[in-house]
This record gives sequence, structure tokens and C-alpha cells, in this order.
Amino acid sequence: MCGIVGYTGDKKAIDIVVDGLRRLEYRGYDSAGVALTNGEGKPLLVEKRAGKLGNLESALDSRFGSSHSGIGHTRWATHGGPTDSNAHPHLSDDGKLAVIHNGIIENYVELKKELLAKGHAFSSETDTESVAHLLGDAFKENGGDLAEAMRMVCKRLRGSFTLLAVHSDDPKRIVGARRNSPLVVGVGKGENFLASDVAAFISSTKSAMELGQDQVVIVTPSDVTVTDLDGKKVEAKSYEITWDAAAAERGGFQHFMLKEIFEQPKAIADTLLGRIEESGKVSLPELESMADALATDVDRILILACGTAFHAGLIGKYAIEAWAGIACDVELASEFRYRRPVLDPRTLVVTISQSGETMDTLMALRHAKSLGAKALSICNTHGSTIPRESDAVIYTHGGPEIAVASTKALLTQVIALHLFALYLGQVSQGTSGKPSSASSKNSRSTLSASEAKKIGSELLGLPSKVEQVLETVEALREMTRGFKDATSVLFLGRHVGFPSALEGALKLKELAYMHAEGFAGGELKHGPIALIENGTPVIAIMPPLGSEIREKMASNIQEVKARGAHVIVIADTATDIPATDFAIRVPATDELLQPILSIVPLQVFAYEMALVRGNDVDQPRNLAKSVTVE
Ligand code: M6R
Repeated sequence: MCGIVGYTGDKKAIDIVVDGLRRLEYRGYDSAGVALTNGEGKPLLVEKRAGKLGNLESALDSRFGSSHSGIGHTRWATHGGPTDSNAHPHLSDDGKLAVIHNGIIENYVELKKELLAKGHAFSSETDTESVAHLLGDAFKENGGDLAEAMRMVCKRLRGSFTLLAVHSDDPKRIVGARRNSPLVVGVGKGENFLASDVAAFISSTKSAMELGQDQVVIVTPSDVTVTDLDGKKVEAKSYEITWDAAAAERGGFQHFMLKEIFEQPKAIADTLLGRIEESGKVSLPELESMADALATDVDRILILACGTAFHAGLIGKYAIEAWAGIACDVELASEFRYRRPVLDPRTLVVTISQSGETMDTLMALRHAKSLGAKALSICNTHGSTIPRESDAVIYTHGGPEIAVASTKALLTQVIALHLFALYLGQVSQGTSGKPSSASSKNSRSTLSASEAKKIGSELLGLPSKVEQVLETVEALREMTRGFKDATSVLFLGRHVGFPSALEGALKLKELAYMHAEGFAGGELKHGPIALIENGTPVIAIMPPLGSEIREKMASNIQEVKARGAHVIVIADTATDIPATDFAIRVPATDELLQPILSIVPLQVFAYEMALVRGNDVDQPRNLAKSVTVE
């Protein structure tokens, strides 16, 4: 959950490290710190402060400007509260070695006991400080080899970690290691970078390297070496970053979240690009290796994800079942992991994750694989752990999502699921264009060619329809302000509108810190209607014209109105709605695609509510963007 940056080169390290931390601040923002080297044998320059990055910046003096190499950390506290002393870096006893850490060292209690017995003094409540002392001892024992010290120590650690360390005796070298936690290398000319994600160095280099599990990386200004924990050199995979550097900037918007809401038409278009023809034929070459299996060997899909990505899965389930005729279940990754699920090789597990690093999702994926399931991931972050450990991946092309509240990631995940559902239908019918045994038609009920064509052209039309929804943002923001003092907001939906309602409630909780709940319309009378009081805002998502549940939803709206609710209805322009207090109109589309349009106003509602209540929109309290601990 923390953000980690390392830089070694010929530039002013402090500028690059702090700039990288600013770009990673979304990962954790309760304290920050840096450790820079200052020439061989000279004491490290270390500063750390509780609170936002600005607190650290104001504590830095001119001495920090002389360094060309160092590490920086922005923290989301796990062990020990957000105080100056718990902030990273942590130092060895002699103060010559500094380490920063993302993750949790599960055996830190026993390590600390051992270190205390050896006479080490501790100045924080963190799990990380034990690593600093272990590294300091190992460095001395092995005659001053920081990489070897890192390898020795990593073998002793249990849990998840990304570690970066510097030592004042070897000022140009940074050593990193990772296990179940992200670390990427940015390869520059005469300079190299290490970071939790590419956003930290994207403005300096587009060349990156992925690191595998239990690998140690040693960077100097001119060299990058990767080894395993036994010191054997390994070939790290290089790749070019396709994200635009400007994509990780606010670009004139007041908040990243608002910018990302407005980027949704492009994010959807990019995710569809080259993958679908108007005929509805889907091209997903990344699935070719599993096309035969998808056609004949899969009879159940199980989607595993967390938070907003879980809601994407709930929405995608409807398309998978309707268009591909395959049973689809969706489960919270954090719950799945601790069950004894009945899975077999005929189950395809689909994990969904923007970051590709969510620990609950990763562990669920491993659990599913250990039970024999095949695994596909839908992910936005190239080279992250979840896609690396899956049999195949469909990348969404949403670009960097910086705001903690997920917006464009959700819409692109849903689009990826739509593409996947159409593809599954195609391979079942042998119309995927893959001339193999996959062409043996099975008994699944899938779309006809004309139905697929209609959906294909609807999907391609979605970016401009989202643009139309975005034209209503100002009116939506104004309407939202009227509910500033509401104590509770309820969201109502049926069918695909139900997961959309859940998403609307999640967005409001995390941003506005308000009680919010999403309900299935049919459940209302089974309990939730008791929550309605005079003036309770209820946002209801109306199914489109022709839907068999349209009238049922209209009745639900009447029921809550009759009990004093203030009802805001989201409906498409073709659909009649009962008299309401406020109507949000979205363009008409296929029923299963409607969430792509109806969720956008819900995002804007939560955004504005956070703003008007004086909350930090991009970095809401207690949260972090990438949840890399369980
Ligand atoms: O990176 P992931 O998509 O795996 O993240 C999953 C959730 O942590 C994430 O969607 C979270 O719920 C968001 N803060 C919601 O806005």
C-alpha cells in the first residue's frame, strides 16, 4: 500500500525522489521520508515526517540538494501509527544503512526478539525496523556487500515485501527485493529508477523491467542486475511503457478523480480499439492459447475481485450468461480464499484488478490455481503480479488511474468483460476465426450473428454516449450539493442496475464518508424500506424500455416516494419514468450495457458530495489505492 521510489544517476536525487513520491502518494499518504547518500562514507541524509508529503518537503534543507542517489517512501500505516518515528526509512544501528518497505513482515516479532537479545535498540513500532537491523548486521558479516546482505535477509523474512536499501559506504548503489509486492525498474541513460509503479518515473523514461518473485535488483547509474535469492543472475523482462506521461498529471482538473471521470470515453475507446468489428466479431489474440479450452473444456466461470472490480464482475456476469450461455459466479476474492471451494479444471477463474497487485485477489488466484482451475485476468497494469501469474490476460487500456476512487478502471473492466463474453460466444460457435478443434460447436446457447452485430455496434458507440452523459456534469454537481447534509443515501437497482447501485454506494462511502447502501429493488420490501424517512435521498436506476423489470422498478420508486424519499431517477431518454424529484437522463443502449452510462452520474454524485463536505477527493481518509496487504 506504500509508495516506494529509488533513484541513482547524475541529477539532483531529491527532486526526482520527491516528484516520484508525489506521483505515488495515492498509494499511501499518512507519512513520508527519504534517505539520500552523500558521497562515500559520509552520513546519509535522512528526513521523515508524519502527514502528507508537504510536511516532509518543508523539513528538507539545502543539504539534500547535493545528492545524486537515494530512496523515498510514502506510507500507509500497518504496524505502528502514522508518526515521525514510524515513518520510513528505518536505519541500521550505525545509521549507515537505510531501508524502506512496502508490505508486512509476518515474522517480525520473533526477529525483533532475536535482535533485541543481540543488543539492537528499536526506535519505532514498525515491522520494518527489524529488517534495517538484519541488513546492517548482514552487511558487516559479509564484508560490505549490500546485495548479498539483502539476499541473506530476504531468506529469513515471511510475508510480503518490497524493500529498497542504500548504504553510505556504497553511495551510488541501490538494492531492492520483492515478494508479493510490486517493484519495477525504470531504465534510463546514465540513471536508473526503482518504484512501486511506473507512474513514479514515467516522465524520465519509458523503458521498464519487470521483477519476478523473490528477486533482488541492484542498480547503479549505469547498470541493472537482477538475481535470485541465491545470487544467480536472472534475465528480467523488459518492456516499453505505453502510458503517456501527461496521463499521470492532473492536466488542469481540480482533482485526478474528475480528470479520470472525463477520460472515460477515451479509456473505453482504447480498450475496444482493434478488438471488435461492427459485425460483433471479437479479436482477442491474447486468448488464442486458451481458445480451444474455452470452447470445449470450460463449463463454469468464477470471477474473483475486490471492491469496485468486484462490482465490474457482478455486471459482467449478466453478459457472460446471456451472450455465451456459460454459468458465471462472482465472489469477493477475500472471502473465496478462506473457503474450501469446489473447483475443477472445467472452471475458468477470472480475476479482475486495476492494479494487478491487490493481495486478496492475488491470494484467491493462487488458491484457485492450486485447486486446478485455469486462470484469466483482466488488468490495467502491465506486468503486475496478477496477470503474470495467470494463464492469460486481457489488458484494459484505461491508462494510469491515480485517484483512490476507481472510475475509468471500472468502466474498462466492464468493457473487457463484454468483449470476453462475446468472444466466449464466438469460440463456442466456432466463429472465432481459429481453425481448430475449437470449431466443434457445443450446446451453449449463444447470440445469433445479428444479435452479436447489434451488440458490437452498440459497444463501439459507447464512448460517444459517455461523452453525452459527461455534458450533464454541471447540472449533476449542482443537484448533488442539495444533499450535503443528508445522513444516508440509498441506491436502488435491479438486474445490472443492482451492481451499479452497489457501486454508487461504495463510491459515496469512500469519498463522502456517508452512510450509503445499494439495494436490489426486489429486496426493498424484505427489510431496507424501513430505512426510508422523510427526505431520504434515493437514487434509482431505471431499466430501459422493453426490459421486463421496468415496471417493477417503477413500483419500487412509488413505494419509496410514498414513504417520503427524495427520489433521483437515472433513466435513458427513451424510457418513461414516474414523477420524481430529479431525473438524470442518459442515452439509450442495450440493457446489459446500461451500467457503462448509468454509473457515470453516480461517480459525479460521490465526487461532488466529497468536495462539498470538504473531504480529500483523491486521497480519502484511511484508504490506499493499491491494497497490497490482506
Ligand atoms: O486494484 P484493484 O482493482 O484490484 O483494486 C480493488 C479495490 O481495492 C478497489 O476497486 C477499491 O474498491 C476502490 N478504492 C474503489 O473505488
